[in-house]
Amino acid sequence: MTLSDLRQLEADHLVGAYTRQPVEFVGGDGSWLRDGEGNAYLDFQTGLAVTALGHGHPAVVQAIREQAGVLIHVGNLFYTEPGLGLARRLNERSLGGKVHFANSGTEAVEAALKVARKARRGGTVISAHRGFHGRTYGALSATPQESKQAPFAPLVPGFVAVEPTAEAIIAAVDERTAAVLLEPVQGEGGVHVLSDDVLRTAREACDAHGAALIFDEVQCGMGRTGTLWAWERAGVVPDAMTLAKALGGGLPIGALVLGPRLADVLEAGDHGSTFAGGPVACATALAVLDHVDDPALLDNVARLGERLAGGLRELPGVVEVRGRGLMLAAELTSDHPEGAPALVRRALLEQRLVINATGPTTVRLLPPLTVSKAEVDEALGRLGTLFKWG
Ligand SMILES: Cc1ncc(COP(=O)(O)O)c(C=O)c1O
Repeated sequence: MTLSDLRQLEADHLVGAYTRQPVEFVGGDGSWLRDGEGNAYLDFQTGLAVTALGHGHPAVVQAIREQAGVLIHVGNLFYTEPGLGLARRLNERSLGGKVHFANSGTEAVEAALKVARKARRGGTVISAHRGFHGRTYGALSATPQESKQAPFAPLVPGFVAVEPTAEAIIAAVDERTAAVLLEPVQGEGGVHVLSDDVLRTAREACDAHGAALIFDEVQCGMGRTGTLWAWERAGVVPDAMTLAKALGGGLPIGALVLGPRLADVLEAGDHGSTFAGGPVACATALAVLDHVDDPALLDNVARLGERLAGGLRELPGVVEVRGRGLMLAAELTSDHPEGAPALVRRALLEQRLVINATGPTTVRLLPPLTVSKAEVDEALGRLGTLFKWG
């Protein structure tokens, strides 16, 4: 089938909820994707922070194959080992409480909101401007973006958005607050790192008023910023964190990881999902964690992140580089003749480099955590050619 056949099928049969780039990928290996004509593309988008170990990682493929050959699904009314092993592993490596599985980031956030509201018997949820938490109603209500919320009003009541500053958070949290929900590094909003001070202040405000501090690590977790969890760097421990994206190595899985304070809030019948915690996704996530939770890999993320950030700062038209580890954004000068979406399209079609734009002047880079120094330099070389102007 040609690309134009695929586009026609899309126009005829798919809801137009996505803007797709004009490329069909048919294969992938490590940091590289391949189209039907055999062209190789350097993938610095990773399905938006999903394929953290690159494409076709042998451990991921093996885990899927092995578990699929044994048992694919029975549901949550019976025991299966992979989900219990994964829950234990996540708890031991993070908050020391309990896990509730989901199938996506937005579902993990929904579960977090339900836990926080149940624990407080109601209450408001405070989230931050520029934050993104998902598309289902609760998560969307915590995502204060007019363009995403307005068409779907009315939203869930009891959500308040504040600036992601210490002062605004202190002013907003009171005894009616159920939760403060923050991304330690705001991804979809353009890769803005919340300062240690903001995270610490949020922790103190929640403690002072009995509210839950929830960190959404759907994008910034799983080693992306150079530590297994982004909050480790600030040393601020949340009451709950949400995971998805990279956790499944490409398979859909989400997790709400709870600290001891909230671990037993949900009781039988409170919340559930047909597919969540299934053996194939969980066996695969265990394999992913085996590789990501490795000091050598995390060190690679920190080192190559600095190299990539340093290179981006040298590019013409770049006025700011934000982010941490391998979660980076290059901010273009406001009078840039093209803007980020056009650059991203040319990067794909002319440079065979897969990146994305989070706004009119913001280019985001999310390479695999397994990327090599040579591949970082290759990407910088391609970006250098692309960014030449004036
Ligand atoms: C921080 C954060 N939370 C939640 C979500 C929603 O995840 P999903 O698309 O898997 O529902 C995203 C997706 O980009 C995200 O970046």
